[in-house]
Amino acid sequence: MLRLFVMLVIVGVSRSSLRTNHVILDVGKLSNNTKHLLMDKCRQGKHQLLITGAAGFIGFHAALKFANQFDVVGVDNFNAYYPVSLKLARANVLHEHGIHVLRADITDFALLSELFQLCTFTHVLHLAAQAGVRYALRDPFSYIRSNIQGTVTLLEVMKINHPIPILVYASSSSVYGNSQIIPFSEFDRADSPASLYAATKRSQELITKTYCSIFGMSATGLRFFTVYGPWGRPDMAIMSFTRKLLKNETLLIFIGPENKSLSRDFTYIDDIVDGIQASVFTASHSQPYQHRIFNLGNSKVVDVAYMVRILERLTGKKARSRFVPRSVSGEVLLTKADISLASIQLGYSPSTNIEDGLARFYSWYQDFFLFKGVNVKTEMSKYVPD
Ligand SMILES: NC(=O)c1ccc[n+]([C@@H]2O[C@H](COP(=O)([O-])OP(=O)(O)OC[C@H]3O[C@@H](n4cnc5c(N)ncnc54)[C@H](O)[C@@H]3O)[C@@H](O)[C@H]2O)c1
Repeated sequence: MLRLFVMLVIVGVSRSSLRTNHVILDVGKLSNNTKHLLMDKCRQGKHQLLITGAAGFIGFHAALKFANQFDVVGVDNFNAYYPVSLKLARANVLHEHGIHVLRADITDFALLSELFQLCTFTHVLHLAAQAGVRYALRDPFSYIRSNIQGTVTLLEVMKINHPIPILVYASSSSVYGNSQIIPFSEFDRADSPASLYAATKRSQELITKTYCSIFGMSATGLRFFTVYGPWGRPDMAIMSFTRKLLKNETLLIFIGPENKSLSRDFTYIDDIVDGIQASVFTASHSQPYQHRIFNLGNSKVVDVAYMVRILERLTGKKARSRFVPRSVSGEVLLTKADISLASIQLGYSPSTNIEDGLARFYSWYQDFFLFKGVNVKTEMSKYVPD
C-alpha cells in the first residue's frame, strides 16, 4: 500500500512537470489520448521510425534529421543520470517539430508491445542506454538493466512483427578497450573491455547478432567515437569543462602513464547523424540475415589538453587544472577510428574539425544557457558529474 502511494506521488509530480513541457507522459500504460495521437501520427503514410532514447543527445539530433522522411515516434524514460530538464528541453523542441516523445522504459515489454501494435514501425533506431564509463562504479545495475535487459526486451517485441523492422543501434568505441592496434578497426578483436559500460555495449552487439541469425533480422551496430556538439551531454568532458571554466572551477583531467594526457577521436554530432542516416538507408532484409558493425568516428586524434586550450580561447578563461591518474575509472588512453569500412559501405565522410565543432558547441552553449535554458541552468548548478 505504502509502495503504491509512493509510486502515485512520484508519478503525480513527474506528470505535472512533464505536461507543462508538452511531453507526452504515459507511465506503465498508454492513455487513450496518446493512443489517438499515435494512431493519427502513424497513419500519415510515411515510413515509421521508432527512436529509443529520443530525449537524449544523439536521439534528439537524429529525430530532427529524420522528421521529413519518417513518422518519428520517440521513447525515453527521462531518467535522472544527468539533469532531466535538459532532456525535457530537447523533447520540447522535438514537440515543436511534431515529434512526440513518450515517457516509456524499454524494459517495459507490455508498453512496447502496445506501441508496436499502434504503429507499423518499418525502422527502429535504438539509442537508449545507460551511457558514461565512470558512473558504473556508482550504479552498475543501471547498465545491465538499460543496455542488456532493455535491448533484449526491444528485440523480443520486434521479432514478432511482420516484417520485422530494420534495426540500427548504438554501440561504442569503448568496446575496443585499451587496444594497442591503432586505429581501431571493426575487424579487430573486441573482447577486453576496460569498463562495465563497454562490456554491456559489446554484449548488446553479440545479443543483437544472435537475434539476427535466429530470426532473420537486419541490424546495424554503430560504434560511436566521443560525440560532441550543441545539446550535448553534461556528464562528458566538453560540457563539463566549459561549465567549470566559466565558473573558474578546477578541471579534473585524467592522465595515463608518464603523465600523458588522454586522447580522443572527437566526432561532431552532424557527422554522426549523417552516418546514422546512411546506415538506415543502406540496411536491407538480405537473406538469411544482416548484421553489420561500423565505426563512426572522425578518425583524428585530439589530445584532451589541446581540447581544453580551444575551450580556453572560446571562453576567454584560463583553466586551472588538476591532473589525476585515470586509475580505475575505466577511461581508456586513446581512441582513433578506422573509418574505411563506413566510408566504402555508407559513403561516410566526416567533415567537421575540432576547432569548428567546438566553436559551434560554444555558440549554442552561450545562447542556450544565457537566454533560454533557465530551468536547466538551475538544475545544472547542482549537478556534479561522476
Ligand atoms: N555520446 C557519445 O559520445 C556516445 C559514444 C558512444 C556511444 N554512445 C551511445 O549512443 C547512444 C546515445 O547516447 P547519448 O550520448 O545520446 O546519451 P544520452 O544519455 O543523452 O541518451 C540516452 C537516452 O536514453 C534514455 N534511456 C536510458 N535508459 C533508458 C531506458 N531503460 N528506457 C528508455 N530510455 C532510456 C536516457 O534517458 C537518455 O535520454 C547510447 O546508446 C550511448 O551508449 C554515445
